[in-house]
Amino acid sequence: MAKLYYNSPMIEKSSIEQLKNLIDIVDVIGNYIELKKAGTNYKALCPFHQEDTPSFVVSPSKQIFHCFGCGAGGDAIKFVMEYEKLSYPEAIEKLASMYNFTLSYSTKQDSTTSLFKALQSVNDLYKRELTHTPHALEYLKERGVLKSSIERFELGYAPESPKQITHLKSRFIPLQDAIEAGILAQQDGRVYARLRERITFPIHSPNGALIAFGGRTLGDHPAKYLNSPETKIFHKSKVLYGYHLAKQDIYAKKRLILCEGYMDVVMLHQAGFTTAVATLGTALTPSHLPLLRKGEPKVIVAYDGDKAGVAAALKAAKLLSRSAIEGGVVLFGGGQDPADMVQKGEIKELEALFRSPQPFIEFVLDATIKQYDLRTPKEKEKALLAGVEYLRTLSPLLQEEYKHYLAALLEILPSKVPLRPQRGVQAQQSMETKDAKELSVIKTLLLKPHLLESVLDIVGVEHFSYHKEEFKLLIDGKVDHPKLREVLLDEDIVPIEEENLTQELLLFLIKYYEQKIKKVLKEDISFTQKSFFIRKYKENIIKLKRGELVVE
Ligand code: UTP
Ligand code: MN
Repeated sequence: MAKLYYNSPMIEKSSIEQLKNLIDIVDVIGNYIELKKAGTNYKALCPFHQEDTPSFVVSPSKQIFHCFGCGAGGDAIKFVMEYEKLSYPEAIEKLASMYNFTLSYSTKQDSTTSLFKALQSVNDLYKRELTHTPHALEYLKERGVLKSSIERFELGYAPESPKQITHLKSRFIPLQDAIEAGILAQQDGRVYARLRERITFPIHSPNGALIAFGGRTLGDHPAKYLNSPETKIFHKSKVLYGYHLAKQDIYAKKRLILCEGYMDVVMLHQAGFTTAVATLGTALTPSHLPLLRKGEPKVIVAYDGDKAGVAAALKAAKLLSRSAIEGGVVLFGGGQDPADMVQKGEIKELEALFRSPQPFIEFVLDATIKQYDLRTPKEKEKALLAGVEYLRTLSPLLQEEYKHYLAALLEILPSKVPLRPQRGVQAQQSMETKDAKELSVIKTLLLKPHLLESVLDIVGVEHFSYHKEEFKLLIDGKVDHPKLREVLLDEDIVPIEEENLTQELLLFLIKYYEQKIKKVLKEDISFTQKSFFIRKYKENIIKLKRGELVVE
């Protein structure tokens, strides 16, 4: 049974603030893992990824943790959320009990509460309707869906519009709420239900809150499946169907089966493959990755073997491999999908397939090379370049490993695979891509955010050459971003004293114009143009040295 989020009382903000003041991050994290003192900070093996040397740092002065290996980080609350797989309020409650602190609650509803209420209410109707709709029950039976699956996934049936509207009214749900929740739509002043005469598949957030529906037509409607539109609480490309039911087993078994459709998920769970989830009628995108990474499961992409399925699997395998997510691909042949196989009782066959997926990188290289006719040298060269282009998105170590695999596919010598010499170059680059002055400004603002406005009066994003991204993140208030945590924790970066701030920023700008002069000298423009720019920059430098600001 899904939790009824809308009537759970909310923890008061002020109460959370009081608790935050009590918490010490070293205490909290020290409760879970062993911390070793290292200078002003503490170090440990990161609990969020596999490692042999500690890159997990806890800073008592800044009250944050950060892993230089995997980028995980945040405050004490974030740690408890990630480590215990809890939602924000659950983590707060956990910490409160750790500190014997009594939280105060309010029953005031937030602005999304009414949407949850509307969804829950219409779901009650859908579930009840299914039991009264013989042809819908018959359809599910024919497809092999058991009663236990109908209950587990809360499948239902969406009747005609008037019935849905009457139901919502009888439950005192304002139609406006149902429209905002994506249940109803409005056209030419007429209100109607989006899902009609369809089997309904409730879609839940990872925490189990009902946020949307998918619906399969039982008639001959041209759209076989329809999903709720994007709403305040439903973001299609961040959610995976079935995740809330699968997550326990995903964490425990460290495995996740990613399939294409609702029915695949329902039927795989029914057959005991309880780590199956699906994207919601969209391709896999980077916004799905945070959820996929949770619990570090091995991901099995289980798609149809038809043309569209292979293309989607190729895209997914590229994305997952370059994001360093482990796993592989299983394709289903003969126009079958996992749901069909379960229906036919081919459980042993499914087990065998899931036991040996083809690793992502091999799959991508195979599928890439297959697109070319290797009998002609020109095509073979194109195949090689396509393979190399993909390999270069991977880590140097993996590039080196899979160079041999690619060479074998093309029947050429591994030495003929043109990968750039990696190590030396990269090390050098990373030295050149840091700038102490820029980082000082950024660190100062992280420590003293109230100075931001006066800093922006003098410098802007355009003046940053190496750390534009970090500065932008800062301006956007994304202080929780891993890149900014690294700046905060790097003891080699020295913040600027407040009384020297203006002076330092002027020096910062002088350096900026000096660099511009150097750049202009190298540019391929006329002598007159060069002199014009150089004169302008030099004038700016003179003004700055006098303590005056320049406006461009
Ligand atoms: P499929 O067409 O492969 O559906 O679409 P299926 O799962 O085999 O469906 P059944 O077995 O005929 O019931 C796979 C997924 O693509 C999305 C849905 O999420 C579906 O589960 N889809 C498909 C849509 O969003 N709209 C469509 O019209 C079709
Ligand atoms: Mn199907």
